[in-house]
Amino acid sequence: MKISGNTVLITGGGTGIGFCIAEELVKSGNEVIICGRREEKLKEAKEKLPKIHTRVCDVSDPKDRKHLFDWVRSRYKDINMLVNNAGVQRMIDMKKGVAELAKHENEVDINLTSTIQLSAYFIPTFMQREEAAIINVSSGLAFIPLAMMPIYCATKAAVHSFSISLRHQLKNTSVKVFEVIPPTVDTELDKGTRAQRSMTYRGIPPSEVAVATMKALAEDEYECAVGQAKNLMEASRTDFAEQFGRMNL
Ligand SMILES: NC(=O)c1ccc[n+]([C@@H]2O[C@H](COP(=O)([O-])OP(=O)(O)OC[C@H]3O[C@@H](n4cnc5c(N)ncnc54)[C@H](OP(=O)(O)O)[C@@H]3O)[C@@H](O)[C@H]2O)c1
Repeated sequence: MKISGNTVLITGGGTGIGFCIAEELVKSGNEVIICGRREEKLKEAKEKLPKIHTRVCDVSDPKDRKHLFDWVRSRYKDINMLVNNAGVQRMIDMKKGVAELAKHENEVDINLTSTIQLSAYFIPTFMQREEAAIINVSSGLAFIPLAMMPIYCATKAAVHSFSISLRHQLKNTSVKVFEVIPPTVDTELDKGTRAQRSMTYRGIPPSEVAVATMKALAEDEYECAVGQAKNLMEASRTDFAEQFGRMNL
């Protein structure tokens, strides 16, 4: 995949991994559009990277998704890359019943449905391009779940499976499908619950995931597992029960 001269939409690009991917893409000479729900985070991102374009959007809302697609397609006619990065991660105790689910944002809508729906919006347009890409951000937890985050892990396993099928369906087209599989990364993803869980390891910097993503794009490495995520992927095939036990004491 060429890594310059693309026009790229990154969901959740105002912070963390998405922002670092935006930085790398701008550095390499791409036009970058980011979206997210918090306008102030998008403004902060634009102050750091004046060349980017921003749009407030809740990707879990069907109307917002449609408006985002229409807005991007009308303004950025050469759009040829979509990074499905927006995500949330919540600790959910299923023993508390359905009320517990209502207390939290809908991880299925944000992490999974938006990935599927935005891909479906952009694929017909992307198929008209000489080269195009969909990049789905999953997680090492797609391969071995942390049971305290049952829905998050299920959505990421689904993003992994969806990416495989999408790649297969699009194999005779100009659209390449990448999956970026981060390990624990030092971002705001879980809204501070790492500290509550006495987790002292904050993870690798998000810039490392962005650099690995650029390398994967350049080398057409369709599954880009970063750092410890490689071990989880491998262990899911060779050593699942032992690794699951270690992670879920
Ligand atoms: N950090 C890790 O350890 C880790 C590990 C593996 C995979 N990942 C994955 O990496 C991706 C990026 O996460 P991150 O670690 O960089 O955390 P982050 O900094 O919290 O980034 C998540 C981004 O998604 C946006 N977002 C969340 N819900 C949204 C919605 N409904 N509509 C639009 N944007 C939304 C957030 O902005 P707003 O809140 O303003 O909308 C935020 O900018 C996620 O898919 C995550 O699952 C992270």
